[in-house]
Amino acid sequence: MWIQFVCVHTGILGCDLQTAICDVMSPAMSKLTTPSMTTSVMAAAAGGHRAGGSTARVRFGNHDWSEFIDTTDEWITSRTGIQERRFAADDEATVDLAAHAAETALADAGLEAADIDEIIVATDTPEAYTPDTASFLQHRLGCREVPAYDLGGSGCAGFVQALDVARARMMLEPKRVLVVGVELISRLMSWEDRSFCVLFGDAAGAVVLGPEGGQAEILDVVAGTDGSKTDILTLKTGGTRHPFNEESLASGAYHRLDMDGRRVFREAVHRMSGAITDVLKRVDRSVSDVSLVIPHQANKRIIDAVRNQLGVTEDRLYVNVHDYGNTGSATVPFALWEAKETGRITEGDLVALTAFGAGFHWAAAAVQF
Ligand code: ACO
Repeated sequence: MWIQFVCVHTGILGCDLQTAICDVMSPAMSKLTTPSMTTSVMAAAAGGHRAGGSTARVRFGNHDWSEFIDTTDEWITSRTGIQERRFAADDEATVDLAAHAAETALADAGLEAADIDEIIVATDTPEAYTPDTASFLQHRLGCREVPAYDLGGSGCAGFVQALDVARARMMLEPKRVLVVGVELISRLMSWEDRSFCVLFGDAAGAVVLGPEGGQAEILDVVAGTDGSKTDILTLKTGGTRHPFNEESLASGAYHRLDMDGRRVFREAVHRMSGAITDVLKRVDRSVSDVSLVIPHQANKRIIDAVRNQLGVTEDRLYVNVHDYGNTGSATVPFALWEAKETGRITEGDLVALTAFGAGFHWAAAAVQF
């Protein structure tokens, strides 16, 4: 097996080595063991009442927002379906939530940290600018010196993309991979910008993937990107094109998310329903075989539109955005865990996961319980 083409320039990584290896080898390896999945996910149920400066762990309802910004419960509920969200306490950061989720997933899988062979963390709100959250997590959990890296910048699609990467890595070599989706969006957003702050919450979710003995099997994953739409959802400041400086600090641009809400809405519906259709086709199943669709929880109206496009009934769609808001790359693993915990998923169920995110990225996975 040869690597056909890897291009590396000084200073600019023309082609990510890991992705190149996976791309070249995946077709040949697809006959190897399909990874099975043990899922267990934990969320940050704690809150930090930042506006009051207290670290009281509270839920943050729509009425709480209306005390600080010009908004109403009616506006937020009717536009988004969100009624509550939870914020990390002031003394918590990304790795705290990630470790909590990971430890719960490990316990559920009956594994120790030492059993993990690789760690992937999907996040847009990392513990530090560098190094990545996965390094902090590897040390916090007490894992061996295994490969650990972040999948960052792909917004809310990150976790399902990470499942795809993990799956490809496991086809090269049977191993146990910890995949975490974690977001503390409360640390990134402007607490005065009513268009955004009401939408988000903090959470983490994790799954442990292993070659055998899991609770479910990932049948396939599809993922895609349309880079012509980077402008519809972007936080520009802090990158090399728009570096963080005194001007961005003074203007508040460093936490200004530019979003064309209507275009994001249209793309999200089109891409998530398309990705589910694609992944089901690849495993020779149809939407009528799916027991539960778990979409990215950004907005109830987007979820309803996906349901209409797919033609599934409400009872076959998992929704918890009303309780937690949009928790970015954590929504899918968190919803998966909650659906399992509350008996919405039982043995024999085919579950479809799907997400979209800034990029514009999308992904879907077919998971057989
Ligand atoms: N409370 C009260 N009024 C508000 C608020 C608020 N929190 N936020 C905005 N408004 C006002 C605006 O100022 C505007 O007022 P104006 O007409 O006087 O100018 C009015 O409400 C309408 O604003 P829009 O932004 O046009 O509101 P819209 O109806 O489009 O809803 C929303 C906004 C919910 C974000 C919508 O565009 C949407 O659903 N977008 C989909 C994308 C999405 O959910 N993105 C978030 C996550 S991205 C991701 O997960 C990858």
